[in-house]
Amino acid sequence: MNNVALIVFGITGDLATRKLIPAIYHLLQKKRIDTIALIGAAFEDMQPDVILERAKKYIPHVDQNVWQKLHECFYYQKLNFTNKNDYFALAQLINTVEQKHQLSGNRIAYLAAASHFFCDITQYMGESGTIKRMSGDASSWQRIVYEKPFGRNLQSAHEINECIQQWFDETQIYRADHYLTKELVSNITLLRFTNCVFEPLWNNQYIDSVQIILSEDRGIENRGAYYDKYGALCDVVQNHMLELLALVAMEAPQKLIGDFVRDKRAQVLKDVRVIDGILGQYANYTHEEYVQPDSKTETFAALCLAVDNARWTGVPFYLKTGKCLNTYEVVINIKFKQVACLMLAKDCPIDSNWLTIRVAPDATFVLTLNAKKPGRSDELITIPLEFCHSCLYGEVTPDAYEVLLEEVLTGEQATSVRFDEIESAWQVIDRVHHKNFPVYSYACGSTGPLEMEQFCKKHGMRWRS
Ligand code: BG6
Repeated sequence: MNNVALIVFGITGDLATRKLIPAIYHLLQKKRIDTIALIGAAFEDMQPDVILERAKKYIPHVDQNVWQKLHECFYYQKLNFTNKNDYFALAQLINTVEQKHQLSGNRIAYLAAASHFFCDITQYMGESGTIKRMSGDASSWQRIVYEKPFGRNLQSAHEINECIQQWFDETQIYRADHYLTKELVSNITLLRFTNCVFEPLWNNQYIDSVQIILSEDRGIENRGAYYDKYGALCDVVQNHMLELLALVAMEAPQKLIGDFVRDKRAQVLKDVRVIDGILGQYANYTHEEYVQPDSKTETFAALCLAVDNARWTGVPFYLKTGKCLNTYEVVINIKFKQVACLMLAKDCPIDSNWLTIRVAPDATFVLTLNAKKPGRSDELITIPLEFCHSCLYGEVTPDAYEVLLEEVLTGEQATSVRFDEIESAWQVIDRVHHKNFPVYSYACGSTGPLEMEQFCKKHGMRWRS
């Protein structure tokens, strides 16, 4: 594990600058990797120092020794993703660098690039020997990470998958979704399956509804060229939000590792049905750089989904996401059913119990219970039982991309998405697209389109935040 050449396609892009380079810095700092060569490839003419400097501001409290170490192992190769010859130059650079740093041939290629380049990059990596097909019993390993979204719809996802399978073995392929390596998200299955107080209640007999919210106060920033082609449904619902749904709704795996977990996530995603939805676009979105002036791309989506299996029949799963909203939060709210009232009518519990899993900005679990108002025997108050993960472990909790890279380094595939999960998730999105839900405008800094009120009324629900 401690010895690897990491090749990042798209090293000058937003993802590499904000997330991947800082994650590699932290792995070096924590000595999770010892010997590494980081080889960046992208189309821009750029000096390696400039690429690293741009990423520096995303690393709090830079340690100069670690930073120096990163400089010493960093190389840059200008490369056009669609030009085969450039990959031969890259392969040569990797060989030279591996000799210089005495690496043993372990390689990771990270494709931080748009998915329409995936097939070309894969094929040319294969032809140039940048990455070789390998089976698990070789003395070194070579792995490829594909950043999300994997395709733009079901058909393109299939085309990409067929292409990469011609070149590499499934054990080498990691389809990334950084939400799966967020601390509280990886805690969902543990919370569910290791606590007797939850698992027996985790079904339609006791759960009333589930809400999954990914709300962002940022707009699309400088990502107009990408975002306008994808929109909220393909950017975050198809991957992050449906994976959260899968973790909440899946059946118990035999073990909480690898394909046991992936099998169960894949199985439940097949049962998802679209009931209703409403889309939105923030005012002035069309004035953002690289956005089409007449764009109808949604920057907001709220969906009501069903999971058609014995455990979840009758339980609605509400998903809500948007850019430029009033707050940044990623939260899962599980609403338990109301108990029969044994008290005088006026003092019945006003709300049922909720289990709230807050993934961001602060990581917490809160279980809301009804309890006696102090000094009164006939009045109730709502009390939160809270576990604040960020208060206790905030300092030591690694960023999701750091964990993701570490999982690839160790060869753990549970947190990488298998193609059958991706396929089912695209089927859900394709069904949403076919329904042609209206796109309403909303003000930046608001909670979304005003028409959400009717949506809530229609479904007899309210969003809890
Ligand atoms: C990315 C999306 O996958 O996830 C972005 O492309 C979104 O549009 C981001 O902002 C949200 O991730 P996080 O970790 O910042 O909550």
